[in-house]
Amino acid sequence: MLNTVSRYYFSASGKHIRPLLVMLMAQATSVATKRQGRTSILVDSDVDRIDYSLMDRSVTQNIHSDGESRRVNQLIESATRDGHGGRPYAPHVKEGLTILPTHRRLAEITEMIHTSSLLHDDVIDHAETRRGLPAIQKTFGNKMAIFAGDFLLARASMALARLRDPEVIEIMASVLSDLVDGEFKQLKNLEDDDAPMAQPDERAFNYYLEKTYLKTGSLIAKSCRSSAILSNSTDDVVEAAYIYGRNLGIAFQLIDDLLDFTVSAAELGKPVGADLELGLATAPVLYAWQEYAQLGPLVARKFSQEGDVAMAWDLVHKSEGLQRTKQLASHYMERAIEALAILPASSARDALEHVTLSVLTRTK
Ligand code: FPP
Ligand code: MG
Repeated sequence: MLNTVSRYYFSASGKHIRPLLVMLMAQATSVATKRQGRTSILVDSDVDRIDYSLMDRSVTQNIHSDGESRRVNQLIESATRDGHGGRPYAPHVKEGLTILPTHRRLAEITEMIHTSSLLHDDVIDHAETRRGLPAIQKTFGNKMAIFAGDFLLARASMALARLRDPEVIEIMASVLSDLVDGEFKQLKNLEDDDAPMAQPDERAFNYYLEKTYLKTGSLIAKSCRSSAILSNSTDDVVEAAYIYGRNLGIAFQLIDDLLDFTVSAAELGKPVGADLELGLATAPVLYAWQEYAQLGPLVARKFSQEGDVAMAWDLVHKSEGLQRTKQLASHYMERAIEALAILPASSARDALEHVTLSVLTRTK
């Protein structure tokens, strides 16, 4: 059951932007400068399995003494192996650009962390749909959705430990607290101690951007950073990978907040206007509020009174909020592209640039 529920969102076609970035960063940094004296990187199939025996031994030994659990583990292991078609984690080299087995695993871990956060997020947000499917909790209920999110996170943690790279483990573990921190910050539109504002000031934008980094930028930034570390890159390359991911991640979420006002639910695979319904004042609203002071009380009461959502929607569309959000995203996008300059020219670097540009024009 846990397997079925945790696979649910993987069965629909997501964008897979996070694993794509990890793999491209792996290739792009494989030809960049390398650190001296770092211990060797695991390159063979040692990273390709989860040690299932770590998980159910104590419980099942007490309940069953017939080796059933060992047999199930063998079945799962062989299914996993077959599913990947033999040796999935051999280094992949194309045009001299290398993706190590550890990179591939990191790409999977990144998508698993993201998906696990979505499983929780859809319960928190009472989501109706995701990726064109009924939201997880609509199909399996809240409890199963939360369990499946925890389960995926647990499996991702085990795979992370298997990378045997303490620096990467630490960085990726810190993403988890960032995600919770970001989601928690989102519960409040503004800092508690902020005096009521006639118009949003710098603090309001900074709070929103910090939340945006924590909720979306951190996973992208830190998985790009980890990818560079796994390539044994020098500190400057590692830093550039992080700056790239951080800026791209913020641009990505800004566009997400924009799409909530501009595209149809059918295109997006999830309802539009959802942020206002949830009481959230994202960048388009903050900019609109600079033009229309009457948005202030609506933001403060989280669009909770009848007619608030419709009024805020209209004011955002009448204002320059949407263009200005796109300009802000474009600013972060340019900073991301600048950071790529430290990497040697390669088809992977070009692809990273291409992905960055396409974030701005995406419609889903
Ligand atoms: C989607 O945001 C949600 C996130 C990017 C992060 C959610 C994080 C948590 C629920 C914290 C728990 C974390 C883990 C790892 C279990 P959104 O609601 O703006 O986007 P949406 O419109 O796609 O739902
Ligand atoms: Mg949500």
